[in-house]
Amino acid sequence: MSQKVLSLLHEKSPYEGFPGDKVPYDPQGWGSDHPVFEREITRLKPSLIVEVGTWKGASALHMAKIARSLGIDCEIVCVDSFLGSREHWLVPRWKSELRLEHGQPQVYRQFLANVVHDGFEDIITPFSCTSSHAAKILAHHDVVSDIVYIDAGHEYRDVLYDIDLFWPIIRPGGVMIGDDFASYFPGVTRAVKEFGDTISVTPEIDGDKWILRKST
Ligand SMILES: C[S@@+](CC[C@H](N)C(=O)[O-])C[C@H]1O[C@@H](n2cnc3c(N)ncnc32)[C@H](O)[C@@H]1O
Repeated sequence: MSQKVLSLLHEKSPYEGFPGDKVPYDPQGWGSDHPVFEREITRLKPSLIVEVGTWKGASALHMAKIARSLGIDCEIVCVDSFLGSREHWLVPRWKSELRLEHGQPQVYRQFLANVVHDGFEDIITPFSCTSSHAAKILAHHDVVSDIVYIDAGHEYRDVLYDIDLFWPIIRPGGVMIGDDFASYFPGVTRAVKEFGDTISVTPEIDGDKWILRKST
């Protein structure tokens, strides 16, 4: 698709007038630089990646660095409520990372600041939205993605719903990659296996990342 998703979602750049220099750089993430990103981006040369679950942007920044180093004209759409997941609210050390102000997490500001700090405003498009609404909005705009990275909710129903809603927007030959295929997230492993069964695709597992390939 040649039209940027940015222009479908935003009337002006979300970075316009944002005081990125007022927020210290803090791209903390989890498994955000796994080799699967470089491998699949090098292979597919994506023009569009949709990330579902961005947090402060570590994985999106990593993918943007790879795309730029390969000279690929790629847009990365970051779908996140930027309000945190169950774990962020329940595990004390993650709760402090939400940086609540008047009861509201400030994750979005941190994410924007990190993107501005690394200079990837031209690649990374923020989409501050729930995953289910975002999938339907992207489908409404006939958005087709080369890669979808799933790393939002980690409960069984959340993961299954995200996979199911985002799978149709992947182009033939594209891939869905996901995080946390591990015993400590049984909901992820169950949802990925079940969805794989329904489409007759065996998930590839690489460390704690899972990959579902769409046939051409
Ligand atoms: C594990 S973090 C993402 C980490 C990121 N991919 C990285 O590697 O740095 C999960 C994120 O998913 C978001 N999230 C969870 N459930 C969501 C939902 N239903 N819709 C949108 N975002 C959601 C949370 O706000 C959180 O920022």
